[in-house]
Amino acid sequence: MPVRALWFRDPVLSILDQRQLPGRTVVRRLSRVEEVAEAIRTLAVRGAPAIGVAAAYGMVVAQRGGRHGPDRAAELLRSTRPTAVDLFVGVETVRSAWARGDDVLSAADAYRERIVGECYAIGIAGAPLFARARKVLTHCNAGALATVEWGTALAPIRVARRQGARLFVWVDETRPLLQGARLTAWELARERIPHAVIADNAAGHYLATGEVDAVIVGADRIARNGDFANKIGTYEKAVVAHENGVPFYVAAPWSTFDARRASGRSIPVEERREDEVLEIGGRRLAPSASHARNPAFDVTPAKYVTAFVTPAGVLRPGEIARTLARVRGASAVPSA
Ligand code: MRU
Repeated sequence: MPVRALWFRDPVLSILDQRQLPGRTVVRRLSRVEEVAEAIRTLAVRGAPAIGVAAAYGMVVAQRGGRHGPDRAAELLRSTRPTAVDLFVGVETVRSAWARGDDVLSAADAYRERIVGECYAIGIAGAPLFARARKVLTHCNAGALATVEWGTALAPIRVARRQGARLFVWVDETRPLLQGARLTAWELARERIPHAVIADNAAGHYLATGEVDAVIVGADRIARNGDFANKIGTYEKAVVAHENGVPFYVAAPWSTFDARRASGRSIPVEERREDEVLEIGGRRLAPSASHARNPAFDVTPAKYVTAFVTPAGVLRPGEIARTLARVRGASAVPSA
């Protein structure tokens, strides 16, 4: 069965609680916009495109609840996480439909369909890149859980496998919340795609010893010049891949491109609670007197990106700005 990160049966949004995976499959039913906001804030639903779709349905939940108008509902959802621009795009898509008096559920459904379709297109566009690559490294989870279906970074891997490519995936564990070890590994294991989880600090070793043919990751926000934000640790992988001549690809739907942002310098980076670093699975690791810092994302300069895998095909960083100018759906909404 394909993984589905979330689904909507009027008036309830159901999500697969990603905090519980892979140990337990728990579905949470969200019938208040505050619950949707909390699910996004706590990473019960996560990954840039999936957050955008959850937020779009969160607006429908709010409209059905009748306790908030479109602006207040949008504000509640926008305040959850600052980095993924998809969140702001999903909210704005339904907020504007609501404000115009259009059918909000049709707007949210159309947004979900657009994201799923674009992720499939990313799979088709990116699969040829992996026809000859054997060993691919990925960071965080950019699979179906993060996008509703298919994934971004995992979509070309899925399609290439279906076309007969024999791929092996290195999965960075992705501290502190282990989206790689828990979620990417879970998706790959379900589809029997050969893989191995590695400690985040092992990636450099495999990149330097010829054990990685290509790196592919997703993104949370991509600026016009190709600088992009993604899960903390991505920047290091990009630098080490560049140093070792390993191609580095970034896969994303149009909702992740921020046409208003000229470069990565002004991308807001979410800083999360220190407990996420100091503890693991609720168990304290560090001395009780110690503190931690916990940036959830980092920004990688475009010069380290070999190409972006987009719904319109594989683009060099220098092609982003002029492509965005003619793509409908590339985000140009006010955001954090
Ligand atoms: O904090 P998360 O788990 O929401 O971070 C997710 C990532 O960084 C993903 O790599 C990114 O959203 C791309 S998802 C297709």
